[in-house]
Amino acid sequence: MLRRLHPEQPASFAYTPANMAWAEAQITKYPEGRQASAIIPLLWRAQEQEGWLTKPAIEYVADMLGMAYIRALEVATFYFMFQLQPVGSVANIQICGTTTCMICGAEDLIGVCKEKIAEKPHTLSADGKFSWEEVECLGACANAPMAQIGKDYYEDLTAKRLGEIIDELAKGEVPVPGPQNGRYSSEPEKGLVALTEWESGRTQYNASVQLAVDIGDTVKRIDGTEVPLTAPWQGTDAPESGKAKKAKAEEPRPAKGKPADETGVTEQEAKATSAAKPDEVEAPVLAAEGEGKKPEVMEAAREGGPDDLKMIKGVGPKLEDLLHDLGVFHFDQIATWGPEEVAWVDQNLVGFKGRVSRDNWVVQARQLAKGEMTDFASRVKKGGVYDEE
Ligand code: FES
Repeated sequence: MLRRLHPEQPASFAYTPANMAWAEAQITKYPEGRQASAIIPLLWRAQEQEGWLTKPAIEYVADMLGMAYIRALEVATFYFMFQLQPVGSVANIQICGTTTCMICGAEDLIGVCKEKIAEKPHTLSADGKFSWEEVECLGACANAPMAQIGKDYYEDLTAKRLGEIIDELAKGEVPVPGPQNGRYSSEPEKGLVALTEWESGRTQYNASVQLAVDIGDTVKRIDGTEVPLTAPWQGTDAPESGKAKKAKAEEPRPAKGKPADETGVTEQEAKATSAAKPDEVEAPVLAAEGEGKKPEVMEAAREGGPDDLKMIKGVGPKLEDLLHDLGVFHFDQIATWGPEEVAWVDQNLVGFKGRVSRDNWVVQARQLAKGEMTDFASRVKKGGVYDEE
């Protein structure tokens, strides 16, 4: 397929302040003189922000990395994951059309896309909410035919089920990804015949689907409000660059002609906004490198029992047990941890190293200790997140 820049381009591009902070953190991963290595994550972030990769965005990233525009254009036009034209504001449906999927019904799935979205790929639906394209093997051949929608795979599809999924997405719902025929993962359709004991301790959905359900962001684009915004290797004292400061001072300049329409706001986008609130007001607490101090711990939980530490995003049942073993039972214990304590706990969570800073437990714990709820904690409380464990 010929990959060219779209004939209609917005006048400009700029990262939002949060995305700028994130992008600058990415660049610090690479040694002096090798900043160009950050081009793929930076282009990807620009695409997440705008929905598609515009010419001003490509040039903006090239400027940030000190690259000639042609070098950045080469990358953007080479990789098919970069969308060089506007995509649906809710989702771009990527149908696998390679051998296994084609044999198992990919053509029927493409027929659904033609009927429900647009006759031609890379074309917006009439309401601007969807677009579609045929892609090469996505590596889920055992669950053919399949499609990638947003960040997740929908597998074992039929034309009828794909039609329903598109309708559900249009209503702002988030269909559960993964196999759509009742299979757990890629086991035989009639069920396991060996290693059947594995079934007893498993989560409600297979690992990637469970994560997608927990996060609830299947088609939500990264918007820069996720935690941590900066990279752990920067520490808490990472200086703010001139560009980040300037971006904060100025209103972000979203590109004109964005593909998103006003009616395309989905439930999951709304959720993401509220989830972001606690993280917008406090900087992530990040681990100091190499050293640490054991936090004050307790012999046992206070009268009334331990807090449900699983309400902290990133703490599952196993980690909760591990924290109890370490003498941590309450939100207000975690809320007091500084970088030294975070570093110590991060290093002592055997099998889960780095989780405290990765998921920014301290900020969440501070909120929960005050009796306030985070979006994730509300979902845990409602049930369904850990029901099967
Ligand atoms: S052929 Fe479709 S996922 Fe491999």
